[in-house]
Amino acid sequence: MAVSVDLIAKAEQTHRLELAEIAGLLGEADCEQQLAAAADRVRSAYVGDDVHLRGLIEFSNVCRRDCSYCGLRRDNTRIDRYRLSEDDIVELARKAKGYGYRTVVLQSGEDLYFSIDRLCRIIRRIKALGMVITLSIGERSYEEYQAFREAGADRYLLRIETTDPALYAAFNPGMQLADRIRCTEELKTLGYEVGTGTLVGLPGQTMEMIARDILWYQAIDADMLGVGPLIPNADTPLGEAEPGDWHLTRRLVSLLRLLLPEANIPATTAMETMMPHGREIILNSGANVVMPNVTEGDYRRKYALYPGKICVADTPADCRACMSGRIKVLGRFVAQDEGFRRHQDREV
Ligand code: 5AD
Ligand code: FES
Repeated sequence: MAVSVDLIAKAEQTHRLELAEIAGLLGEADCEQQLAAAADRVRSAYVGDDVHLRGLIEFSNVCRRDCSYCGLRRDNTRIDRYRLSEDDIVELARKAKGYGYRTVVLQSGEDLYFSIDRLCRIIRRIKALGMVITLSIGERSYEEYQAFREAGADRYLLRIETTDPALYAAFNPGMQLADRIRCTEELKTLGYEVGTGTLVGLPGQTMEMIARDILWYQAIDADMLGVGPLIPNADTPLGEAEPGDWHLTRRLVSLLRLLLPEANIPATTAMETMMPHGREIILNSGANVVMPNVTEGDYRRKYALYPGKICVADTPADCRACMSGRIKVLGRFVAQDEGFRRHQDREV
């Protein structure tokens, strides 16, 4: 424990740790509070006390991939598939703007129905509303990423899930870690703000593997980092797996803040699915972003990555009001700016 306190102090001051040091802290349950307190200080110093809200639009649950943990996987026949129309997607974005969101996150399974033409039209129409756009639609070609960027997309979320090649291949059948790394690098090259992250609790995942994930995030200078625990979905091959460790995931969030102090880090929905008020705890452990759902009606329930998803019976207005109330109670406030990553060294 004494060693951990020294390591946390080192991380807070230098934002650098060795692989074995990171793995040690990840595995040290007793240091959770101290890690969170240090991360909270670094969060306040580097990205401030404001919380950025991003409105999440889940526009299609059709997916060509077959990830062993995800309810949207193509072999899952027990899910009602849907696609929103172009007009409906733009309308949700327009309403999100009305609720005060500056960013919409367009998220879907890997659904190639949304071709370059279709998506670029949607992106242009939403940009015309004056909104920042984050895409979260999986692996595409460089040409597609370039077309979306030219149409106006600003940011891209593509979690690496794990940087361990064997673990990646085991739970993402037919996919390869090298492709995902290439996509991430291409997105960076094209000038997107890039978000990545770890799925915590894949069977066989070790502290060293998660520590290597963090070092990779530092190496690529990730702009955003979204992490969450595995929540076993009975309609998938990992239905009987052990759930990911919520506390380990919290320590991971705190370490991410200490080691990538400028990054935008969300308090993810999965963290609250596993623990009531989980997002508030995580906002006090290094995070500075929340992504409330702005999808309407039954589509919220149908976008079922994992069971027990929060807010499926709520409206976008409910979630907006709920989150701003909860943020105020923490003594924080809802950011009014567009919420791009801050670069300390470039600020004068
Ligand atoms: N439990 C937790 N997170 C999941 N994701 C997909 N399926 C699950 C699950 N069963 C996460 C993946 C993906 C993100 C959109 O959702 O990390 O990148
Ligand atoms: Fe959806 Fe609180 S965020 S109801």
